[in-house]
Amino acid sequence: EFAALSVAARDPRLADAPLLAAARRRSPAHTPVWFMRQAGRSLPEYKKVRAGIAMLDSCRRPELVTEITLQPVRRYGVDAAIFFSDIVVPLKAVGVDLDIRPGVGPVIAEPFRTHADLDRIPELEPGMIEDIATSVGLLTAELGGTPLIGFAGAPFTLASYLVEGGPSRDLTKTKALMYTDPQLWRALLDRLAQISAGFLRVQVAAGASAVQLFDSWVGALPLADYRTHVQPSSAAVLQAVRDLDPSVPRIHFGVQTGELLPAMGEAGADVVGVDFRVPLDVATERLGGDYAVQGNLDPATLFASREVLGERVRQTLEAGSKAPGHIFNLGHGVPPEADPDQLKFVVDTVHAGKS
Ligand code: CP3
Repeated sequence: EFAALSVAARDPRLADAPLLAAARRRSPAHTPVWFMRQAGRSLPEYKKVRAGIAMLDSCRRPELVTEITLQPVRRYGVDAAIFFSDIVVPLKAVGVDLDIRPGVGPVIAEPFRTHADLDRIPELEPGMIEDIATSVGLLTAELGGTPLIGFAGAPFTLASYLVEGGPSRDLTKTKALMYTDPQLWRALLDRLAQISAGFLRVQVAAGASAVQLFDSWVGALPLADYRTHVQPSSAAVLQAVRDLDPSVPRIHFGVQTGELLPAMGEAGADVVGVDFRVPLDVATERLGGDYAVQGNLDPATLFASREVLGERVRQTLEAGSKAPGHIFNLGHGVPPEADPDQLKFVVDTVHAGKS
């Protein structure tokens, strides 16, 4: 259990934070809400401060990271900040040659193919990301009683970028490596688990009070393959966070993971993120244990009328009330074209409650 409560020791106001209460399956004062990709291109104030600065450079500037992370907290009054960074930042920090192309995503100069390629992915040492600790420290000082969610990419999703060389629809090369050379696959995922765990532990040690592990693309796998080839490495990442601070709740999220939800919970999560395809009451039944859920408004409803949007928010709250804890979110990230006023309306509707 969360006996140590070292999170509350960081700032006494965190003891009552609705996000942490819901994650711990205790009754929050109101349903907490935040949005994946709440910082970013949907916000004019983001575009203004990012102008002329490459994405991966912006992630390594503590004052800029602090400003961008705080922007959606100020504008929306969400119940958590999510650290502004990217899942590939720790890969770049260990020396992998990669870039984030606008409108595309991460692109890897030399995709991962053979055992020798492991040498190009050294282990992460905290000294390689001192700026990340600096950014988190600046942020938690500003945020006070609002939790900061640290995050990392899960080994499978990181591997998918390294093996495919960039974004891919069906992850054929990734799955081919997994099926043809399970030993190399395991070595790659072990290495990525070390990197992912190191990235999270630096954020937690510097003051993040919850973490989210993004396994965005793992829904490409059938359950049996997930259990055999992926779950152990994700479990190692979540366990590494627990070993550092058991009072920090762990959120585990992926897209199209309807069949994987229980296995993602068993990997060591307190909260399982659910995309918009599975209603939260159904997800809760599938999970069948003491898990909080996070989600899962379809991001496309942000483009609907206020009437439709409000109704969908209330339906999501109703379905979420069947879970031992509910953190309201979208089923995936905020689309860049979304209207910030619609997101503000969602926050206000969630805080007003179901009735
Ligand atoms: O607000 C937040 O959510 C925090 C910041 C954050 C970013 N990336 C910033 C970002 C987080 C949590 C991520 C995680 C991330 N990055 C994931 C997992 C979440 C998910 O969406 O499933 C993945 C798969 C990536 C890889 C990645 N990086 C993609 C697919 C893209 C989008 C490419 C594009 O331009 O459409 C990026 C770039 C990226 N990461 C941007 C932001 C704000 C856009 C870059 C820009 O503003 O120029």
